[in-house]
Amino acid sequence: MTELLTNAPSVQHSLSVPGDKSISHRAVILGSIAEGQSRVKGFLFGEDCIATINVMRQLGVPITIDSETNEVIIEGRGLTGLQASTQLLDCGNSGTTMRLLSGLLAGQAFKSQLIGDASLNKRPMARVMNPLISMGANIEGYQGSELPPLTIQPVEALTAIRYEMPVASAQVKSAILLAALQADGETEVIEQAVSRNHTEEMLQLFGVDLKVEGKHIKLNGGQTLKGQTIEVPGDISSAAYFLAAGLLLADTELKIENVGLNETRSGILEVIQAMGGQLEVQPRANGISADITVRSSRLKATVIEGELIPRLIDELPIIALMATQAEGVTLIKDAAELKVKETDRVVAVADQLNALGAEVTATADGWEIKGGSQLREAAVKSYGDHRIGMMLQIAALLVKAGRVDLEDATCVNISYPEFFETVQAIWGA
Ligand code: S3P
Repeated sequence: MTELLTNAPSVQHSLSVPGDKSISHRAVILGSIAEGQSRVKGFLFGEDCIATINVMRQLGVPITIDSETNEVIIEGRGLTGLQASTQLLDCGNSGTTMRLLSGLLAGQAFKSQLIGDASLNKRPMARVMNPLISMGANIEGYQGSELPPLTIQPVEALTAIRYEMPVASAQVKSAILLAALQADGETEVIEQAVSRNHTEEMLQLFGVDLKVEGKHIKLNGGQTLKGQTIEVPGDISSAAYFLAAGLLLADTELKIENVGLNETRSGILEVIQAMGGQLEVQPRANGISADITVRSSRLKATVIEGELIPRLIDELPIIALMATQAEGVTLIKDAAELKVKETDRVVAVADQLNALGAEVTATADGWEIKGGSQLREAAVKSYGDHRIGMMLQIAALLVKAGRVDLEDATCVNISYPEFFETVQAIWGA
C-alpha cells in the first residue's frame, strides 16, 4: 500500500511530461528495420518501451543509450536483417509491443515466440491474428487459443490484403502495415474510425510511400526504410492527469510544456472545451507539440461517444474523474474497448471512484457519471494498470480529509516512471 498525496494546496506550476509511448515504440521498431542508424530524442524510458528495446536487441539489433543525451541509437538491420532469438521474446505488460511485433515477425524467415505478463496473457490477439493469417502468416495462440503466448512460424511469402477493420485499433492497423511491408502487392487497410496514426506518419518519415485517404491506408510491399532522427514530444496521455488536476483543484494553474499535438490523439482537449474548462494551447514552432495551460474551472457534464472515442481512448479513466466533479450527468458510450485494456477499465474506474464516494455506473460500453461528488478517504487499487493508478492519485488530491492508500502503485512505471515524483514536486510540502 502506498499513501497517496491528498488535499492538494493551490499552486501555479510548469512541468513537462515524458516522451510519447506510442511514438517511442514505433521509433525503435522502425529504426530496427531501417537501413542505417536512427537516433531517438525524448524517448520514453518506461517499462513498456524498454520491453520493445529488449525484444529488438534479442532479434540482433544493436541498440545503445547515449548516457549524456539519453538518446536511443539504433543500428538498423534492414527488413531482412533480423535474426532468430533462441529465447522467448518478453513483451511484459505491453500490448503495443506484442501486437506490432506479431505483424513484423509474421513475415520473417525464422520462428518467434512472444510472451507477456499475466495481464497481457488475457488480452485478445484474434484481432491481429485474423488479418495476418489472411495474409498467409502462420501464427498461433496458446494451445490453439486466441490468447498469448503467440508462436509465429516462417512462411514462404505474405500476400497483400484489403482489410476492413472490425475494431478501431492502432495496434491492429500497425501490425497489418508492418506485415504489408513484407508482402507481395498493395495492402489496403480500412479503418472503422480513425485511430492514432503514428505508424503511418513514421513510415512516411522513414521514406515509405504510403497513401492515406480518409479511413483508407494503402501500402506496397518491398519498400526500404532509411534511418532517421526522431524527436519524441511529451505524451498527451501522461499530460492528461495534470490537465485534469489543473482544472479540478481550486486556485490552480498548470502549464504543461512540449505536449505532442496530433489530431488523432487530441480528443481530450475537445472534451475539456465542451466541459467549459479553461484551456490555452500555444503551439510550438516544431509543428508537433504545444504548451498547454489549464486553470481551475467549473466543469459541466458532456456526452462522449462515436468517432471521438479512439482519439481519447487512454484518457477515459481521467476524463471519468473530471465528470465526477462536473455539474450534471456525463455519458460515455461506444468505449467497450476499455474492457480489454491492461485491466477491465470500465469496471476498475467505476469501482474505485465509487469507493472514493463518486457516483459512477458502469454500462456495457462506458459509464454514466453523476457529477458534483465530494470525494472522501478510502483504500483503492490500481489492478496493476498504470492509467488507473495515476487517475487515483489525481482523485486523491481532491480528498480534503483522511488518507487514500493505493495498492500496487509501482504500475505507473509502465508509462510514467517519474509520476509520483512530479506530483510531489508540484503539491508536496
Ligand atoms: C496504442 C493503441 C491503443 C492504445 C494503447 C497504445 C498504440 O490501443 O490504447 O495504449 O500505440 O498503438 P488499441 O490499438 O488497442 O486501441
